[in-house]
Amino acid sequence: MESIRRTKIVDLLRKKKEFGATVDVKGWVRTIRGNKYVSFIHLNDGSTIHNLQIVADVEKFGEAFFKPVTTGACIHVVGTLVESQGKGQTMEIQADTIEIYGTADPETYPLQKKGHSLEFLREIAYLRPRTNTFGAIFRIRHHMSYAIHKYFNDNGFFYFHTPIVTASDAEGAGSMFQVTTLDFNNTPRNDKGQVDYSEDFFGRQTNLTVSGQLEGELGAMSLGAIYTFGPTFRAENSNTPRHLAEFWMIEPEVAFYDINDNMDLAEDFLKYLIKYALEHCKDDIDFLSEHFDKELVERLNFVIANDFVRLTYTEGVEILEKSGQKFEFPVYWGADLQSEHERYLVEKHFKRPVILTDYPKEIKSFYMKQNEDGKTVRGMDVLFPKIGEIIGGSEREADYDKLVNRTKELGMNTDPIWWYMETRKFGTAPHAGFGLGFERLILFITGMANIRDVIPFPRTPNNAEF
Ligand code: 4AD
Ligand code: MG
Repeated sequence: MESIRRTKIVDLLRKKKEFGATVDVKGWVRTIRGNKYVSFIHLNDGSTIHNLQIVADVEKFGEAFFKPVTTGACIHVVGTLVESQGKGQTMEIQADTIEIYGTADPETYPLQKKGHSLEFLREIAYLRPRTNTFGAIFRIRHHMSYAIHKYFNDNGFFYFHTPIVTASDAEGAGSMFQVTTLDFNNTPRNDKGQVDYSEDFFGRQTNLTVSGQLEGELGAMSLGAIYTFGPTFRAENSNTPRHLAEFWMIEPEVAFYDINDNMDLAEDFLKYLIKYALEHCKDDIDFLSEHFDKELVERLNFVIANDFVRLTYTEGVEILEKSGQKFEFPVYWGADLQSEHERYLVEKHFKRPVILTDYPKEIKSFYMKQNEDGKTVRGMDVLFPKIGEIIGGSEREADYDKLVNRTKELGMNTDPIWWYMETRKFGTAPHAGFGLGFERLILFITGMANIRDVIPFPRTPNNAEF
């Protein structure tokens, strides 16, 4: 037989081959059932949520042949594509040859049975992409990454690569992972007994970045409009369904934008991404909706269709104080809002996404533009149903003296970011930007409840095995 090339199942379902054609498919067995005469194998190759039915004549292959063809085995099938008579599929393959690439012993294959809990699947993260649920999530993750690049490219933003290893702490939160080649059992010390980082690889103390913003601002102040999209790392010991120690962040930064432009960009960007998901990930979203979150599609459409509410932190706190709602954490002017407060505003009060602005300076980072009142800064958080904060951003303080004063008030050591401070000396300009937590976006779009389930290999406290 003339050799033919493998066709992906997604392409067969898109009718890229005629009925009667000889096709070559490869994938993992999801189920196998049948009788003395015929075996039905449901094959999945990861290209789509849908399985392809393989029909094999038992007499032709011999009964013993099917013994090792069990759930999880990887096979290569060549056969004829035919219209299916059975329910549940439009097409199937009548197998001519089946080659077994790899077996999966039913006694030990962890995914032999269906219906495992998400918690169990986290323990076998190396295999969970084989399940329908995680296949769907990771395909959506891919499409969203692409949509993010497309949105910015189509809108004239440049992808600006900021470093992973830095000497600065952009957020001032102090929750950084140190990067070092020093020998912990024999660290060089100066005469005061402190670790001598001049002996370290970079000749200084370095860490994994918590945000690409500070370097991104340098890009915006030269290329005009940039975005970063990369991994960020935070050593916060927060074991919540919304925090990862390693997560991906998208950070646009735009010269000549004020906070209103920034809010417009955030709203347009989020709506574009949700629309893109509904258009390009329909099968996967429908699957997740059916199994995890019946209101998912409705919620996604709702966010696209409605304007986000915009109000100040002060107004938000007033609403929360008057709500009569019992919160675990108290609300008062000056308090850092918790997810329960954010979700109250979004889900109970406004029933729409909310953008809160003008936060007390004490609870926000040093770089945010200071308001005239001397108390608040031009920060903005976008709050989403089920998620709480999905975006955090601000207009930046463009005035050198004001920026220096704020760092002094905070007692910050600006040595590691001297270069950032300099941007305000040479051709400073109003500018603004924000950070979208990629996994929080994926949580929203997939309807999943735990952030560990939307990244292939979650990094959380005590968890970095695979
Ligand atoms: O609000 P954050 O800390 O803002 C910044 O880092 C700014 N430098 C962004 C900017 O203005 N360029 O983080 C931005 C977003 C949050 O709104 C949240 O969606 C996500 O990043 N995020 C996390 N996601 C998962 N795990 C964590 N530990 C996260 N911390 C923040
Ligand atoms: Mg934030």
